[in-house]
Amino acid sequence: MDDSKIKITLNGEVFEFDEKILLLDALAQAKIELPSPCHHDHLSQVCSCGLCLVGLRTSATVPWVIGLACMVTIKNGMEVDTECPQAAELRKSIINAYLLKHPMDCSLCDKVGNCFLHKFAAHTNFRGFTRLMGRHYWRRSLRKLGEKIAIDDEKCIFCGRCLRFCQDILGEEILGKIKNERNSEEINLYPGKDCDSNYSLNLVELCPAGALVDQVSDYDQLAWDLHHTPSISPESSTGINIYILHSKKYVHRIVARRNDSVNETWITDSARNLVNILKPSQRTAKVMCNGGRADIRVTIALAVDKILRSGSNTYILCSGATSLEDQFVLKQLLDALSANMSLANVYFLRRKGKGDDFLISDDPYPNCAGAEIMKLSLEFNTHENLGALYDLVQSGTCKNIICVYEDLFAERVNGEIFNGIPITYIGHQNNKTARTADFVFPVKTIFERTGTFVNKDYILQKFFQAVPAPSKSILECWEILSLIMNTHNREKTADYLTREEIWKDLSNFIEVFRDINFSEVPLNGLLLKKD
Ligand code: SF4
Ligand code: FES
Repeated sequence: MDDSKIKITLNGEVFEFDEKILLLDALAQAKIELPSPCHHDHLSQVCSCGLCLVGLRTSATVPWVIGLACMVTIKNGMEVDTECPQAAELRKSIINAYLLKHPMDCSLCDKVGNCFLHKFAAHTNFRGFTRLMGRHYWRRSLRKLGEKIAIDDEKCIFCGRCLRFCQDILGEEILGKIKNERNSEEINLYPGKDCDSNYSLNLVELCPAGALVDQVSDYDQLAWDLHHTPSISPESSTGINIYILHSKKYVHRIVARRNDSVNETWITDSARNLVNILKPSQRTAKVMCNGGRADIRVTIALAVDKILRSGSNTYILCSGATSLEDQFVLKQLLDALSANMSLANVYFLRRKGKGDDFLISDDPYPNCAGAEIMKLSLEFNTHENLGALYDLVQSGTCKNIICVYEDLFAERVNGEIFNGIPITYIGHQNNKTARTADFVFPVKTIFERTGTFVNKDYILQKFFQAVPAPSKSILECWEILSLIMNTHNREKTADYLTREEIWKDLSNFIEVFRDINFSEVPLNGLLLKKD
């Protein structure tokens, strides 16, 4: 054993820790479960629930005492017994007090599977007693706390997490334990405050007993029917880690995925609303050629014909919403077209979004860092708007445009300047470019694809497909680019048929990704070395 480490005995087994940490964290690392609803790793400590009681002694020569694991820091030689009968009995009586007013709607509650009361009962075979058995009306006691959130007072255990989230994370006292007209205490808004910021729904997630509910999505699907697929929110370069909750082929919800180096346990409410991009009115779903539905191979051949005819007068407008795989294949496509095109033909816009100094950065795209590593454009810092491209169109230099996840009309422009210029659109947003383009190739949304982004801090992160695309003609962006490349050069067979093939070349040709394999990138991301 290493003498520099702290050795403690947990339930009779010796564990080693590198540094002095909270006993509660040590127990969690040793995978010993203890109810601790008032504790949250990213909020200040209050020790109010009294449930993390354990038997402990600091050395073999002193008597055992009962202590709160969230108040004790581990010390060499400490012995801990979470199953000590006195502590277990005290925990049971506290849980019993909570259960007295807790409704028995577990099978319908959104918190099921993640509720400390439920877990405690399952692990200890504990049968509590509720006074509400048989006469509780489901959701009877929901009380609104603003537009987004409601509270079920019968489930609240006054752990104070919601109050501390407002103070510690939102920096404002919004919620408090306030006396109502019946002179009993309840969680409520302070006068003049509202709970409707872009981070409010984190309250629903951190409430340990399911008391806080999302007024829009609560109970829309049984929580235990939902599968969790790890993904990344594409709404900014922060790369917020999310889980997509889905059942069968439908996405029901987006929830936070813990990643302490990126977003801790928080996500934006706008990330939770990402599911709206799947609405048929919001997305492209059909391959279109000159305004009519068309076969993908025929449309690719026609688009390639325009590229060949326009030669070096073809320009590519590409967005940072593209994945590393898309960007790498785009780079290969440029190589294949190198007789006519070069990086000077790629317009990669550096847009400025509205950051919030927390999880939303000023860069509204998830993978501009990837494009920079890939050196996908010559002018990253100068192309902030579409003006330069419009000038090329008006001067007659640009005779063909390929628009990848971008919108040519995102800035005010007289659409007539594009008359007679073939436009190819590759993307899923049903924007004006998609509606006016000559060739439209719909691609998969973040919910339907697997790939990688590099966030603003140079962390390589993976996202995974949760649901199938609604039609077989909807492909990944890199698959469309690969088809264009192969149609252009028929002697070659398809270069990239799988993501693994792309990654094999990516790790061979791009120094930053040397020796990195897609399947080995950890779920919490990999910090890349800057050149
Ligand atoms: S509403 Fe939830 S988070 Fe807030 S005090 Fe009650 S149980 Fe705790
Ligand atoms: S977790 Fe220790 S008192 Fe609540």
